[in-house]
Amino acid sequence: MDIYSFEDFVGDRDVFFAQYFNRKPLLRRGALAGRLDGLPSVRHLDDLLALETVPPSYLRVTKGGKGVPSGAYTRTVARGAALAEALNPEKVYELFRSGGTVTWNSLNHVLPSARRLTEPFTDAFASPAEVVVFVTPARTDGFSPHHDSIDVFVVQVDGTKTWRVWDTPDERPGDEGSHTPEELGEPVIEVTLEPGDVLYVPHGTPHAASARSELSLHLSVGVEPRRWRHLLTDTVAALVEGDDFHAVPHLTDGGGAAVAALAGRLALLGERLARLDAVTEAARLTDVGRTRERAVHGREFARLAAVDALGPDTLVRRTTTAVEIGSSADGKTGLHVAGHHLNVPDAVADALRALDGEQAVTAATFFPGVPEARSLGVARGLARLGVLEPAGAAPGASR
Ligand SMILES: [Fe+2]
Repeated sequence: MDIYSFEDFVGDRDVFFAQYFNRKPLLRRGALAGRLDGLPSVRHLDDLLALETVPPSYLRVTKGGKGVPSGAYTRTVARGAALAEALNPEKVYELFRSGGTVTWNSLNHVLPSARRLTEPFTDAFASPAEVVVFVTPARTDGFSPHHDSIDVFVVQVDGTKTWRVWDTPDERPGDEGSHTPEELGEPVIEVTLEPGDVLYVPHGTPHAASARSELSLHLSVGVEPRRWRHLLTDTVAALVEGDDFHAVPHLTDGGGAAVAALAGRLALLGERLARLDAVTEAARLTDVGRTRERAVHGREFARLAAVDALGPDTLVRRTTTAVEIGSSADGKTGLHVAGHHLNVPDAVADALRALDGEQAVTAATFFPGVPEARSLGVARGLARLGVLEPAGAAPGASR
């Protein structure tokens, strides 16, 4: 199955960010032609409908431009002692056959192929991404001209769909809105997308779509723009975490002491802001964006399985997980990592200090001066805690 990179969608990354990102729409014909295997498909959607536990809120049906009330395609089922709403597949198919468009929202919450698809976008933008899938039957109207508050990457997966996209305006409202064709004039892109075509529509850019004579499945990966106000709110929030900002002031009567105290804290915050190194802060904000709640892609079972498969000849290296190495007492050194405190032989602490960056050693020699099996055990233990990670087999290893 295909795993996609950000470049698969946008082409050259530098050209995309210099010329298109946040500026103008981009059409890439055939960008994923012949490589649609890893994407959500009509077969996946049939499977999802057959599952009884997909909450109906993930699905929306529109017909004649209007939303169909969910009661028209759900049923009540017993779930343990409670009653719950579930999708009624037959009703959904019936609405589709009679011209309804079926939209799956946040499909990355329930479908692994959609979740994998968000990863290159989360990584490139350091912002959460959501996958929405649209299935339209033949001969439907589709969507009239509107703009969205997020950046959208459209991928045509099945059938065809005709799109019109207008210029990205200089001044962009933050919210969604609709337009009339008269006020928009001529579109800058008018195209019938075919399977494998990719279309990038920056937030606030008017666009419209209509299906052709066959079933169409297209998906859109939506990425929330992170504005300066989002980023700097994060910066200030991190700066006021410390004890200096923990006290509880009384500001409501505006007395002189309260105002002086506030002035003091504002000055302190100002100093901290002025001392921040922009390079380090940019890296921190990127990291925060990539790992925030909705962007996290847990692989813990797979990671632990890889740790258990560590052999004596497997190369191990340090991860970026922070480890506090304490002082030595009676031949043991305290380590503080991810909420765990442990005492390890001094030689293990020294080995950790010596490993930095890309350097790697075999698991059998990580802990010098002890039998291979003991070194391997210690390396596995540290790998379970996330301090070490496998870096491949040693060259020439044969056992
Ligand atoms: Fe849209």
